[in-house]
Amino acid sequence: MRQLIRGRTLSFHADPTDTENAFTYHEDGAIITDNGRIAAIGTYADLQEPGLAEIDNRPHLILPGFIDTHIHFPQVQVVASWGAQLLDWLNTYTFPEESRFAQQGHAPQMAEHFLNLLLAHGTTTAVAYCSVHKQSAEALFSAAHARNMAMIAGKVMMDRNAPEGVLDTPQSGYDDSKALIEKWHRTGRQRYAITPRFAITSTPEQMQMTGQLVREHPDCHIQTHLSENRDEIAFTLSLYPKARDYLDIYETYGLLGDKILLGHSIHLEEREIARMAETDSHPVFCPTSNLFLGSGLFDEGGLRARGISSGIATDIGGGTSYSMLQTLNEGYKILQLRGQKLHPFAAFHWATRGNACVLGMENEIGTLAPGSMADLVVLDSRATPAMALRMERATTLAEELFILQIMGDDRSVAQTYVAGQPMLG
Ligand code: GUN
Ligand code: ZN
Repeated sequence: MRQLIRGRTLSFHADPTDTENAFTYHEDGAIITDNGRIAAIGTYADLQEPGLAEIDNRPHLILPGFIDTHIHFPQVQVVASWGAQLLDWLNTYTFPEESRFAQQGHAPQMAEHFLNLLLAHGTTTAVAYCSVHKQSAEALFSAAHARNMAMIAGKVMMDRNAPEGVLDTPQSGYDDSKALIEKWHRTGRQRYAITPRFAITSTPEQMQMTGQLVREHPDCHIQTHLSENRDEIAFTLSLYPKARDYLDIYETYGLLGDKILLGHSIHLEEREIARMAETDSHPVFCPTSNLFLGSGLFDEGGLRARGISSGIATDIGGGTSYSMLQTLNEGYKILQLRGQKLHPFAAFHWATRGNACVLGMENEIGTLAPGSMADLVVLDSRATPAMALRMERATTLAEELFILQIMGDDRSVAQTYVAGQPMLG
């Protein structure tokens, strides 16, 4: 189906931190979508066609849908659990909750809630951890495929230091992951992420088999956690006494490269930073989670100066909001504490094209360039009385974006399109 979507369009074609002319903005803009893809973008005057169906989103802003590069699907009922830092939080709240995904019918029900929440918050692609149970990944992929949403997901592999109900074995973790890859990787818009949870919950035998999976499936992403919390690092190094540092464990088993997403990456050694840069591995910044769990302050500027590009993500349920706007808000504040500045252009680039580049998917998602999938978010910068009042004094696009970044959340999401289809309301 061919249609025209009208509104104020904003799309980045470069990183505004590196380049002056990083984006294209049309005040009276339009996007023509054809069969789920963007066929053309320009001014409404240039793109109007007699007889073409039109959806009018004026006066709102139309951007590429947000991309969340680190989120835990089985933690939709963990978010806002009180009083613990990482290891206690996992043991007290998270592992028991994830064990419920073994129950028949639970994962499919939660998958619907999860995808509804993502769309309500303007997120069209997420990189998701599922539970250890094969059926949790099966449920998420099935639900995302039915909506034509691009999900990158994997069942966590974990074979120690957690309750029996959330453990696999090196062999079953390998077999289940392999079966899921064969069924779902590049089925429609689905992609598989090989997912060793973190070094604490995997034996060397499981890490070995993870490395084998990665060698057998070099097209799959890999996701894990790195150096989120000081107690976690100490425990990890006690479990792998020969490792030079935390990253060395993942390096030893052949996991580093441009496909790996290293959640958190806060407390890093110099050698780890150098190896990340050399291997083009990607840290992922999870601001609301890092504050909520008291984990620490991510050094985006320091990593960037070393040529490392980071993703940004919610990390629900350690994170506290599904909103990438709220994530950028807390990210701004963390970088303030680091003496760094997150400009609104850089922020909106990050949540769209920046995250797409980290995934190596910028030709498919994250921009409004012709040929990309028509995954869009429509943002209302006057969604609340407080925002409308503040907007009376905004005179530039940068100011408007910053108001959205600081004050916006799902109330600012007027519509979300997936492959050209409106998904809300
Ligand atoms: N490290 C290992 N598992 C997890 C998780 O579920 N959440 C967070 N924030 N860190 C982790
Ligand atoms: Zn996580």
